[in-house]
Amino acid sequence: MISIGATLSHKNKGEIAGLNLDFIEVKNLELEFFESTADILNRFPSKSMHVQYLPSFGQRLTTLNLVSRETLEIIKDESSVLYQSYLFLKPRIISFHLCFSSEEVGTEGIDNHNFAMGRVLSRDETFERISLSLSTISDQFRKIGYEGKILIENLDYHPTGAYEHICEPGFISETAKHTGCLVLLDVAHTIISSHYFGIHAVDFVKAIGTDSIYEVHVNSPLYEGGEWYDINKPFYRLPEAEELVRFIVGQKASGEDKLLLNVECDEEIYEQLRDLEELRHSLIAD
Ligand SMILES: [Fe+2]
Repeated sequence: MISIGATLSHKNKGEIAGLNLDFIEVKNLELEFFESTADILNRFPSKSMHVQYLPSFGQRLTTLNLVSRETLEIIKDESSVLYQSYLFLKPRIISFHLCFSSEEVGTEGIDNHNFAMGRVLSRDETFERISLSLSTISDQFRKIGYEGKILIENLDYHPTGAYEHICEPGFISETAKHTGCLVLLDVAHTIISSHYFGIHAVDFVKAIGTDSIYEVHVNSPLYEGGEWYDINKPFYRLPEAEELVRFIVGQKASGEDKLLLNVECDEEIYEQLRDLEELRHSLIAD
């Protein structure tokens, strides 16, 4: 079964309110924003809670970093905004960015990608810390009644020290198997990483294993001046992104597996949803 949804943002809330979606995704945990958009959120019984940032001390947004001790302290805290947001939204799906390979990271460049400020961790250290954070998150959510899946999103590789190990297809599938999580595949991130690794994006996804993919962030990266940027564009702007979306949907269309297609890019949202509807219809009809 293929469900189609979109990410709610400050910018698109007017448009989203009038759409017919199978689910709605909220990005980041801004309780004030959730409260102010409660009427929109209530229109969509099926919600996905996607966590990229955690508000930590004061109002500062902190990038969620599953290897950091600061993040681990926040996710251990039953009163943290992570669990308050869950109780407010009651999402059916919860997802996290699978990051990083350094405990302290900064941001740089026009796409705000991260770089390591501290030591780059070994593959084993990264794997162990991410696994510990995910099992802590999972235990805490189960305690407060969440019975759904927890998803981990692949990131876009940059040679900055922050993305070592975690962008490799083998690391992603191993982490998913070990922790019982499923994969949220971000199309733009996949294309950027596969170019760095010198493999085709479809082969990258085959190496992760399509069975473990539960959701797709439908988008494409920006390619400018010979460089790839993680700046979300409509998926059909880049043939490689369109091919990848068609491949995954084709894999899931015939089976019993569920797949969520979430439009993550605000631009041309109606056109993107229309194309996804057509794709779903054509593949199911085949
Ligand atoms: Fe994403």
